[in-house]
Amino acid sequence: MVKFALPKNSKINPGKYHRNSDGSKNLKKFKVYRWNPEDGKNPSIDIFEVNLDNCGPMVLDALIKIKNETDSTLTFRRSCREGVCGSCAMNIDGANTLACTKAIGDIKGDINVYPLPHMPVIKDLVANLSKLYKQYESIEPWMQSMKNGDIKEKKQSISERSKLDGLYECIMCACCSTSCPSYWWNGDKYLGPAVLLQAYRWIIDSRDNERKKRLKKVADELKLFRCHTIMNCTNACPKGLNPAKAIGSIKKMLVTEKIK
Ligand code: SF4
Ligand code: SF4
Ligand code: FES
Repeated sequence: MVKFALPKNSKINPGKYHRNSDGSKNLKKFKVYRWNPEDGKNPSIDIFEVNLDNCGPMVLDALIKIKNETDSTLTFRRSCREGVCGSCAMNIDGANTLACTKAIGDIKGDINVYPLPHMPVIKDLVANLSKLYKQYESIEPWMQSMKNGDIKEKKQSISERSKLDGLYECIMCACCSTSCPSYWWNGDKYLGPAVLLQAYRWIIDSRDNERKKRLKKVADELKLFRCHTIMNCTNACPKGLNPAKAIGSIKKMLVTEKIK
């Protein structure tokens, strides 16, 4: 029988147990992934008992409380605290989501908190998204409507504008791409659902002049057709968007418009 062995330093060890000391009975345990590239140790899971009587309602509130009161070295990204910047994306209770919009009360039992999966980790809960941002840059996510110095205002009809609904709301949190098995295995070539949804957002913008060039750019067996419609991406999106549908729409355009 084939035996698989994980590299030594990929095994996760038990970490520190941070007991609550204020006598509260309303405690929740947060089991948090820790890894520090500077100490040479394996990753570990620290357990923090959090008093919910003086904690905000969201998982991000608990992480901020832990950082402020128990362990200032706990590292995670956050900015807006209201689901619009995408920076607090992580894996909570087994699913990718935004820590600032995930209610503690919606999770039964202890709460497991990990970084976004299948990405290199910078520290603790911070995944390295540099590759994804490079891919994002490759689809040129900006309006290309000025030809020969034409800087006139580009108007849209109500129906043209409505085509952007369900797309412009994307906050590039990467919850979808990091839940996509095709992206896990082929992330160096396959663009993944977040970037492809953004590509589609620019392809169908009536004000943009580069529709054909944009379609040609993604018309590639690896960049686009590695999507096998598994739908994890759509299930994972914390903004309720449907990247799988956007990818399907690009594929359909390539066939119907005969673009190679
Ligand atoms: S539908 Fe496509 S992009 Fe979405 S999870 Fe499946 S393979 Fe990935
Ligand atoms: S489609 Fe949803 S999950 Fe994917 S990057 Fe955009 S907001 Fe995040
Ligand atoms: S902190 Fe901005 S989306 Fe969570």
